[in-house]
Amino acid sequence: MRLIVTGGCGFIASTFLRQALSKGEVERLVNVDVLTYSGRRENVRELLPDERFRNVELDICDAEGIHALVTEERPDAILNFAAESHVDRSLFAARAFVRTNIDGTLTLLEAARGLQNETKRPMKFVQVSTDEVYGDLEDDGGAFRETTPLDPRNPYSATKAGGDLMALAFARTHGLHLVVTRASNNYGPFQFPEKLIPLIITNALEDKPLPVYGDGKNVRDWLWVEDHCKGVWAALERGRTGQVYNFGGASERENIVIVRSILSALGKPESLIQYVKDRPGHDRRYAIDFTKAKNELGWAPAQNFEEGLQKTVDWYVENQAWWRPLRDQTFETYYKQHYGKLGLEA
Ligand code: TYD
Repeated sequence: MRLIVTGGCGFIASTFLRQALSKGEVERLVNVDVLTYSGRRENVRELLPDERFRNVELDICDAEGIHALVTEERPDAILNFAAESHVDRSLFAARAFVRTNIDGTLTLLEAARGLQNETKRPMKFVQVSTDEVYGDLEDDGGAFRETTPLDPRNPYSATKAGGDLMALAFARTHGLHLVVTRASNNYGPFQFPEKLIPLIITNALEDKPLPVYGDGKNVRDWLWVEDHCKGVWAALERGRTGQVYNFGGASERENIVIVRSILSALGKPESLIQYVKDRPGHDRRYAIDFTKAKNELGWAPAQNFEEGLQKTVDWYVENQAWWRPLRDQTFETYYKQHYGKLGLEA
């Protein structure tokens, strides 16, 4: 199998790349990444010696570059993980989200369609997306199913919904063998320290305040990144064309519970917790019904959340050389600005 993966220098897709190279049936694996602030070369460094692997620095919005690459590599499938993914950034930089998440997706879809037309061979496409396109849920029950109406409520989720709909349109109108996957909040090693779990771990390790939005009782369903990537693989192999598959971690937790668990794992005081002004349009609760993935793909999450969180904390403790430079580099441009708005010292 010959695969092109996008966004492989980021958190989720770099995990997917590591898994894919452990599979004998993968004969070629090409990573396309433009290396924005959160895409890190070091995330794929250990893969470079593998002859099957090729790392290409390229923007998924670069139609000519993508067309040339797809023509040269002639993949059996494209898996689009590349995305602007941080909600807080989308509140003040929405255009970058439209560009990558919608325009970039369209560029890849066009390239896939072009190759399929040329070779007359079915071309697979996996659009990796998020449960956030469904909007949010009340505190008292219910879970997102694939049939739940789309109701994105922030610029990030609006652009992911746009990309998903464009992808599904290409399955219908152009016959691409395409599936959309929608996962709940991922966690694990290599996550950029702007998202809740790595932000709290790294702030706590530096004895910095831990910003908890609103009342801290927003609920997310946490999915171990390796479980998610196994789901994407199952969707690639067994997903039905034009279908959506939800992946969840069966681990709903309030944010404040996670923050407390991290403090306790690190032996740090709860006085570091600081409740701050809520995120505008903050979705209250996400929960995923993954019955369809279970029935059709034979997929279910395997990682217990408390153990997964401990493994994650250990990884950040042991890999400070990975995250400390990231925080230094991004503090000036991003955290200071963001923290300033939250009324916190950076
Ligand atoms: P995040 O990791 O940004 O993921 P998403 O918004 O895509 O779910 O946030 C997870 C939850 O944690 C969300 O309810 C917002 C909250 N949060 C905080 O309370 N403080 C923070 O500093 C961040 C980044 C998130």
